[in-house]
Amino acid sequence: MFTTQDEWDRGYADGRRYRQLTDAEPSLLATYVPPPAGGKALDIGCGTGALAAHLSSTDYAVDAVDWSGTALAEAGTRHGDAVRRLRLDVEQDDWAPLHTDGYNLITLRFVAPFLSSRDRTLDALGHRLRPSGALVVITALAVGALLRSGGIGPKTGPRMPLNKVGFIFDGGRLTGEQLRRIRLDPVEHDMWAVHDLVSRQELMAPRAFARLDAIERARRGEGLACIITHT
Ligand SMILES: C[S@@+](CC[C@H](N)C(=O)[O-])C[C@H]1O[C@@H](n2cnc3c(N)ncnc32)[C@H](O)[C@@H]1O
Repeated sequence: MFTTQDEWDRGYADGRRYRQLTDAEPSLLATYVPPPAGGKALDIGCGTGALAAHLSSTDYAVDAVDWSGTALAEAGTRHGDAVRRLRLDVEQDDWAPLHTDGYNLITLRFVAPFLSSRDRTLDALGHRLRPSGALVVITALAVGALLRSGGIGPKTGPRMPLNKVGFIFDGGRLTGEQLRRIRLDPVEHDMWAVHDLVSRQELMAPRAFARLDAIERARRGEGLACIITHT
């Protein structure tokens, strides 16, 4: 599913935007990770900067990282210069521009699913936390997710490339009870989630979503009857 830096940039240039901050998010952050005196926050994959701007308004000194220049430029236009914006590929680039004395809060909002070395990157970010600091991963789960014990984050065992499999339930709808009966083999899978097409679009690379959307329209008899793509 992985999207290149150019694809993200093009998506932003084409007007693609992601889910706005909900009221619940600032409220949960205020409850669980209020800014300590001199608190520093790092927002990874900040996009057009709403969360970073919010954190800054709560007295965190914020670094906001994204690899899309277009998104960062819009973040500056929308929210001004209170936040330090850094254009970095968080998985590949040198982290020299980040503060060496660490952060009290590191956030990833709708970003973790796109990381190609998610465990390694989260692990490394964890090492940038100050004592008692928090790494907050915000994801869009329409119904629920079952995380392998230990949750998202550093895991034991061999490192595996992140991979996903999706099933479309053709016209059917699983009940809460059926969903609760889903069991994962922890050796093979660490998470399940149920998404409608809207939340899928937020989670998927633009090209991958275009393919899913074409399949869905074909399934409903509204679009193409044949789609040939390569990955
Ligand atoms: C779905 S958007 C979420 C944006 C923002 N956090 C929000 O909640 O609106 C994912 C963001 O992660 C950024 N991103 C993905 N991979 C990245 C990477 N390796 N390094 C830096 N940014 C990355 C994308 O450019 C994009 O802005």
